Amino acid sequence: MSDAGDTRSFGGARPLRGRARVPGDKSISHRALLFAAMADGESTLTHVATGADVRATAHALGAVGVAIERPDRERCVVRGCGIDGWTEADAVIDCENSGTSMRMLAGALAGRPFLSVLTGDASLRTRPMARVVEPLRAMGATIDGRAGATLAPLVVRGGPLHGIRYELPVATAQVKSAIVLAGLQATGTTEVISPGQSRDHTERMLAALGAPVTTDGLTVRVEAGAPEPFSLEIPGDPSSAAFFAVAAAITPGSDLVIEGMSANPTRVGFVDVLARMGADIELVTTGEACGEPVGELRVRASKLEGTSVSGAEIANVIDEIPVLAVAAAFAEGVTEIREAHELLVKESNRIAALASELGALGAAVEPRPDGLLVRGGVPLAGGTLSSHGDHRIAMAMAVAANAINETSIVHEWSAVTSSYPAFADDFARCTTGT
Ligand code: S3P
Repeated sequence: MSDAGDTRSFGGARPLRGRARVPGDKSISHRALLFAAMADGESTLTHVATGADVRATAHALGAVGVAIERPDRERCVVRGCGIDGWTEADAVIDCENSGTSMRMLAGALAGRPFLSVLTGDASLRTRPMARVVEPLRAMGATIDGRAGATLAPLVVRGGPLHGIRYELPVATAQVKSAIVLAGLQATGTTEVISPGQSRDHTERMLAALGAPVTTDGLTVRVEAGAPEPFSLEIPGDPSSAAFFAVAAAITPGSDLVIEGMSANPTRVGFVDVLARMGADIELVTTGEACGEPVGELRVRASKLEGTSVSGAEIANVIDEIPVLAVAAAFAEGVTEIREAHELLVKESNRIAALASELGALGAAVEPRPDGLLVRGGVPLAGGTLSSHGDHRIAMAMAVAANAINETSIVHEWSAVTSSYPAFADDFARCTTGT
């Protein structure tokens, strides 16, 4: 593996073997930091996600006066004084590449009696924000932003909020969570109804921490209140583990166990998809932390076949579609991914990025307006690839490239820092058995 400039090379059809642990879950890490900052007392978090996205949330909380010891480390102590203790930041808050930071912070800050300006990098400033602005305005917040408040920077003039009943047009956990965080500061009851199940960490964790949040099917109900301080070891990120799982499934000779991974049912849809494709994959739940199930995943290489992914399953695999598309390229037969329009508005346009990068390896991938059609079984060869500045495209391409004999180069590799800065080293450890 070479490491010249902002590139990495992968190849050699190297099997993955042994036991691995991935960084703490990114979604749970953002929430753990936010909930600890809203609690009144000291919370200790371990195995916090090490990427830039979660660091952006920690820094934002620091900017509004929350004392966080070692905000850049895997173990950090948050000395919360309740959300009433947050104070106006003296500068613009930079959410970098992180949509979760921006949308969840918008919800929390909507109820604070001061001004907050939230910005992000060039990618985040193109991502849709009306979806969060609209319900928060309906709750009484004053929010503005570029392009008629549809794009960041967002300017949040927080104040008194009232509960609403809101039907989300798309199944998005970020917006659901933003409304819940605003609801904890609002008078009356707030109800958020999702059109399908999205990840449920916010409602699980807040309920486990004693906040007045209840769930009834696809409806989350919130009253004014706050979480208690807590200690949490954050389980491994299934979205990171999925790269290792697919790499093991498609690379002959692999037999890999991933320990301590979040086994939250709203996050492990990729295990079902891979099983349906014929993968030798097993997830066993081993424990629970803060309302969140934890498990162990074992994957052995096997022959895969095509499948269809659409409908309610999409929200459950939305971050894993890049690497599932790689699995599809190595499977026999056709894989169809439909009703996945949200791929267009992630860190990159993932439909275009996957079609172009898998295509560069020789795969037969057709972009569709709402997904992809992958004709598997076409022999692939090494190529020159780009991450499109998107961490999940970078890692998906590493997985594809590793399974091919010839070497491929991935450009703009540093995009991985958003969620998994040490991915290349951890991956190399599995493929060399050290
Ligand atoms: C996330 C929700 C999802 C996901 C993102 C993290 C979260 O986004 O893609 O990586 O932590 O709530 P949407 O809410 O936009 O679906």
